[in-house]
Amino acid sequence: MEGEMDIRGVLAQLTLEEKASLCSGRNFWSTKAVARLGIESYVLTDGPHGVRKQATDGEVVELHDAVPATCFPTGAGLAATWNRALLEEVGAALGREARAEQVGVLLGPAINIKRSPLCGRNFEYFSEDPYLAGELAKHHVRGLQGQGVGASAKHFAANNQERNRMLVDVVADERTLREIYLPAFETVVREAQPWTVMCSYNLLGGTYVSEHRWLLTEVLKEEWGHTGLVVSDWGAVNDRVASLAAGLELEMPGHGGSTDRELAEAVRAGRLPEAVLDAAVERILTLYARVMEGRARGGPRGPGRGFDEGAHHALARRAAGESIVLLKNEGGVLPLPRAGKIAFLGAFARQPRYQGGGSSHVRPTRLDTAHEAAVQLLAGRGEVVYAPGYDLARAEPAPALLAEARAAAAGCDAAVVFIGLTDVFESEGFDRKHLRIPESHVALVEAVAEVQPRLAVVLSNGSPVEMPWLGKARAVLEGYLGGQAGGAAAVDVLFGEVNPSGKLPETFPRRIEDTAPHRNFPGDERRVFYGEGVFVGYRHHDAGGPEPLFPFGHGLSYTSFTYADLRLDRARMTEDETLIVSVTVKNTGQVAGQEVVQLYVKDDAASVVRPEKELKGFEKVALAPGEEKTVRFTLGRRAFAFWDVAARAWRVESGTFTVLVGASSRDLRLSGKVHVEGRPAARTWDQNTSVGELLEHPVTGAWAQRLARKYFETLGQYAPGTAEAVMMEAMLRELPLRNVVRLARALRPEHVAVVLDVLNGRAPPSALPEV
Ligand code: BGC
Repeated sequence: MEGEMDIRGVLAQLTLEEKASLCSGRNFWSTKAVARLGIESYVLTDGPHGVRKQATDGEVVELHDAVPATCFPTGAGLAATWNRALLEEVGAALGREARAEQVGVLLGPAINIKRSPLCGRNFEYFSEDPYLAGELAKHHVRGLQGQGVGASAKHFAANNQERNRMLVDVVADERTLREIYLPAFETVVREAQPWTVMCSYNLLGGTYVSEHRWLLTEVLKEEWGHTGLVVSDWGAVNDRVASLAAGLELEMPGHGGSTDRELAEAVRAGRLPEAVLDAAVERILTLYARVMEGRARGGPRGPGRGFDEGAHHALARRAAGESIVLLKNEGGVLPLPRAGKIAFLGAFARQPRYQGGGSSHVRPTRLDTAHEAAVQLLAGRGEVVYAPGYDLARAEPAPALLAEARAAAAGCDAAVVFIGLTDVFESEGFDRKHLRIPESHVALVEAVAEVQPRLAVVLSNGSPVEMPWLGKARAVLEGYLGGQAGGAAAVDVLFGEVNPSGKLPETFPRRIEDTAPHRNFPGDERRVFYGEGVFVGYRHHDAGGPEPLFPFGHGLSYTSFTYADLRLDRARMTEDETLIVSVTVKNTGQVAGQEVVQLYVKDDAASVVRPEKELKGFEKVALAPGEEKTVRFTLGRRAFAFWDVAARAWRVESGTFTVLVGASSRDLRLSGKVHVEGRPAARTWDQNTSVGELLEHPVTGAWAQRLARKYFETLGQYAPGTAEAVMMEAMLRELPLRNVVRLARALRPEHVAVVLDVLNGRAPPSALPEV
């Protein structure tokens, strides 16, 4: 009813108290009604990979008291699919389930950058790369909102650790924010308009994000054009009046109206202009109209509780299958034959770890296990032997369980070992302390390897782990946290029903010391310094950092692909033009498969320190054996730009760029060059302009040379080429204009203003003073 509801008209009828009341929740999960005007309450609930709707009312939080819902793979797994269309399908399924439960806003996607693999919530987040995270987020939101249910892009912004998440002050420079931590939000806002953006708990540059006007209003609303509203993370508000003035419209959860009263009093006392409150309420009513319009479309049709549980489970299985990354496959040990005797070892084969802890925890509609799926698949053809191998509740190896697993493996044709991180490792609320998996899981791989060379490992974990046992396994599948169908999906891949096509959306380091923020994570009690700047993930490893265990973008297949015929549609372009890149990819193996074609851009020479290369395009392409397809990418100015700190704007610097295309960040098959002509930096010159800059500037260059000569005359003569002359010249280049005046009589003080007028275009070059 957005079109039908007269938002301004409703606003005009609301009393001050009613307006203030709409700015916070009724309880934990719902908004307030205004019965007199027919405004109803609606529900906002978690979360990114499933609908966690509390069965009881929302007066208290009951994290495990949820109505059943399809548990899709968590964000890390969905990201490993690199499949935009699939993210949109999952988003739409979430939307149908949310609508069946009368949920107005589903709190996701969670798109914070994985700064360190230790962050406890990385399992919910997409990637270390902002381009990948932004593209996937956009499609998640489009799918969800296409069903008439609002999204909440969270947690905005720079919430990259759980430790001290409500207290920590993130110290990061604007370039780091603009290039790494903000772009995923920028993309999703500009291109998918999530109905809400959730502000994070932390502080940024000394200000609570919930009170950060620059972030919530100047950047989000004014620069990116967000038309939705900002909702607080649950309990993120510090000072309600300050937060409303900064651009935070809806506080969640509500607490009995106390902060509503603060808002009304602030308006009455003249501390908060009523127009600011009105603008917030207008956005709140706009969201309300959108929610009601979505609701009016009618509930979804299907058997059961209003959506087709079977179809959604099948989608969860397909998504999980595509999220699995084949890290290693020596001697083609996978896929396994669909006959014979196979050992399934490790308790995860029967009690899967398939999601993480905290607010995103979903109660699944059903739960597949790998063991059960394998038994079904091999029925009548082969046998599956199971042994738990470790005790899920204990990290120490249990000798009896190990002996049983070893004996089972010895008598089989091959063994699959299911290991990873147990529930206690990954959750909202705390970070990991190290990258290790439980000792008992490592011991199981080692024990089985002693007796069974045909050994494959299936990992269940939401973020990278160390793999000291890697040499003992012929094949490794990274299963991430695969959701309720993850067990069956692992079997689909193990036996070749599904050809793996996942690629790592993050770097797997060899050890935690190899990660960029290592010394600055999680910071001290109140402050974390993003000292690595833009060098996060592969950007760090590429910049002369240590070799990763598995690089960003890595993932194998049961078939092989060749890359040929890279074409750039032009050799030169201006920054306002676009570049079309095409490449032909061919399936040269025996089975159908999908390849994620990745495109990276490298700035060959830049005036600032830039990453070696950055992901700027990807396409997932399905190919039958022998088939080839041409994949096309379109690159606009942002693909070449960096954040210019002085100009506070994106800038493309003129020069040559290399376009690299390949199968991972370290398996680049083809490259081409393009010369991009950028606009000169828009810059204001001031008294701190250096002589070096004057010498290089086209308008002042010749004049500055005369100035330099005069400067040396006043100081005495230095024989050209001597160390002293080299030093004096270097020192002169570093001198700011104001000091030229102080240190030598080469320029008079009143001339400085004239030089600046010329540089800033306020006076013609002929106005430059005689030197
Ligand atoms: C989490 C959010 C979540 C909210 C509501 C917070 O603790 O950070 O991601 O949406 O709770 O459950």
